[in-house]
Amino acid sequence: RRTAAVIPAAGRGVRLGPGAPKALRALGGTPMLIHAVRAMARSRAVHLVVVVAPPDGAAEVRRLLDEHPLPDRTELLVVPGGDTRQESVAAGLAALPDDITCVLVHDAARPLVPVDTVDAVVEAVRDGAPAVVPALPLADTVKEVEPGKPGEPEPVVATPERARLRAVQTPQGFDLATLRRAHEAVAVSGEGATDDAGMVERLGTTVVVVPGHEEAFKVTRPLDLVLAEAVLARRRA
Ligand code: C5P
Repeated sequence: RRTAAVIPAAGRGVRLGPGAPKALRALGGTPMLIHAVRAMARSRAVHLVVVVAPPDGAAEVRRLLDEHPLPDRTELLVVPGGDTRQESVAAGLAALPDDITCVLVHDAARPLVPVDTVDAVVEAVRDGAPAVVPALPLADTVKEVEPGKPGEPEPVVATPERARLRAVQTPQGFDLATLRRAHEAVAVSGEGATDDAGMVERLGTTVVVVPGHEEAFKVTRPLDLVLAEAVLARRRA
């Protein structure tokens, strides 16, 4: 059974502030995308990495990847992405060769995920789960609100019991046929989704959670860059 990792890296990263596409910004002097690709290639279970580049940035991404070679056992493909994360993932899935049966989808924006987390996700898929997400309990209490006009206070609708909530990370792992079906169904219905497992849930297929890792956090806002630099510095010490 061969496993591929699809890395959507076509986002602009506007919440991070002005500058290059998020995946190409440097962490510890190396682009975030390179960290993310290495994090996948570090797993001996991953045979192929597919990077989904900004539509106008595939050549630049290819050049970057050539400058940072992977272990010989890891194959690499670069494909252009789309306007939404979902379309970018679909472009990556479309590029997978026929001998792939298990696929990971990993955000370029989670450059520091440890290899043990990657391995745990692959193992759960190989053990028979059609969809697996790494996740952590929440520190904050979460409230559902009725979104109002910007600047106006928003009424609270509900407070879900915190102990039953999990914040999900990537890589999310799937039986490839299941994830392809989920993407086709969503493309037909026209509904959006912020994560791949959510699309599989809509098929009525069970998604399971395995323990995530605090270093698999998503680099979204400027403060996340400070944290990521600190994690890298601690690893290098
Ligand atoms: O915007 P968000 O943080 O949800 O993005 C998650 C991941 O999806 C990032 O790695 C980003 O580069 C990727 N993405 C993409 N194509 C888009 C939008 C986001 O590949 N059109």
